[in-house]
Amino acid sequence: RFHPFIPAGGVGSRLWPLSRADAPKFLLDLTGSGSSLLRATFDRLAGLSAGPVMVVTGRSHAGAVQEQLPELTADDLVLEPSPKDSAAAIGLACTLIERRDPTAIIGSFAADHVVEPASAFQEVVKEAVRAADTGRIVTIGITPSSPATGFGYIKAGQSLGLDQAPHALAVEQFVEKPDEETARAYVASGKYTWNAGMFVAPVGLMLSYLRRSEPELARGLDRIADAWETPERDAVVDKVWPTLTKTAIDYAVAEPAAAAGDVAMVPGDFTWEDVGDFAAINRLNKVDPRTDAPVSILGQNNRVLTDESSGIVVSDTGRLIALIGVADIVVVDTPDALLVTTAEHAQRVKNAVDSLKRNG
Ligand code: GDD
Ligand code: MG
Repeated sequence: RFHPFIPAGGVGSRLWPLSRADAPKFLLDLTGSGSSLLRATFDRLAGLSAGPVMVVTGRSHAGAVQEQLPELTADDLVLEPSPKDSAAAIGLACTLIERRDPTAIIGSFAADHVVEPASAFQEVVKEAVRAADTGRIVTIGITPSSPATGFGYIKAGQSLGLDQAPHALAVEQFVEKPDEETARAYVASGKYTWNAGMFVAPVGLMLSYLRRSEPELARGLDRIADAWETPERDAVVDKVWPTLTKTAIDYAVAEPAAAAGDVAMVPGDFTWEDVGDFAAINRLNKVDPRTDAPVSILGQNNRVLTDESSGIVVSDTGRLIALIGVADIVVVDTPDALLVTTAEHAQRVKNAVDSLKRNG
C-alpha cells in the first residue's frame, strides 16, 4: 500500500563542471562511496514497501538510470520528454499510482540528497507512513543550520498525539524558498525546520490539492494516465507534456495544504545534506581517508599532492594536481573545463554557468 517513488530531474548547476546536462547531480557519486545519489536513494527505500520503487526522470537519462538501477522494470521507469519541474513529475507519479491503487500512501523522495544512516531514515519514513494514514500530507523536518534560501520552511506546532506516530506534529505554515531576511527571522525564532524534500501522503489527498491549485496541469496528467496503458501513450505524452505548467510541488501542494491544516511533520532524526554546491561536499568529506589530509579527493584521479592545504579536489582526468598552502580551495578538473574557487564562494558557480549559457 506504500508506493515510494523518486522524482529525478534538474541539473544541479552549482556543481558545474562536474554536473552537466548529460551528467545531472543525481547521477553523480558525491560521497566517494561508489554509488550515485540516485542509487543510494533507491537502496534506502528498498525494503520499505512490498512493491517496487518508481523513478520519474527525463527520457534523455533513461539509459543512465537503467544502468544504475538494473532491477527497475519498464513499468516503474516513468519518462518525461522535457523537464517540467517537480509538480508535473510528482503529479504524474501520483496520477499513475492512483489508477493502480486509489488507497495508496505515496512517498516522494528527492533523488539528490545524502542521508545517513539509512536505518534512522527508514524509521522516520515508517512513522511518516503511519501518520499519513490518518489523512495528512506528512513532511520531514530538518533542523536548520543556516538561513538558506533554497529550502522550504516548515512551522510546526502541537503534537498530533498519535499513538502510532508519537513524533508527528501539526504544521501551521509551509513557506517555500523565503527571501533571506525572512529565512533569518525563521531560523532565529527556533520554530521552523527545513523541508527535507520528501512527502508521504494518501495519493488522493496529494492530488486533490494539485487539482485545486493547478487544474490544467492535473487535467493534462489525467489525459496522460488515461493513455498510459494504450498504444497511444507516447503520442499523448508528446502532445500534452509540453503544455504543462512548470511549477514546484511545494507551491502547488505543500503551501496550500499547510494553510488548510492538512500537513504534518515528523522530525528527520538523521544526517541530511542537500549537497547543492562544492561547499556542501567539502562539509561531508572533511578528511580524505587515502591521504589523511584535510583535502577530500573525489573521482578516479589519485594523483593529488597536498601541502598545508584544505578543501576538495574532484578529478577524473589523470592530470597531476598539486595544492600548496591554500585553504578551503575547490578544484574541479574535467577534460574540457577547470573550476577553481573556494568553499566560501562555491554558491557563485551557478552565476558563472548562467553567464556561460547566455554567452554560449
Ligand atoms: N523528473 C523530474 N523532472 N524531477 C524533477 C524535476 C523535473 O522536471 N524538477 C525537479 N525534480 C526533482 C528533483 O530531482 C528533486 O528530486 C525534487 O524533484 C525536488 O526538486 P528540486 O528542483 O531539487 O527542488 P529544490 O531543491 O529547489 O527544493 C526542494 O527540495 C528542498 C530540499 O532539498 C523543495 O522541496 C524544498 O522545499 C526543499 O527544502
Ligand atoms: Mg534540490
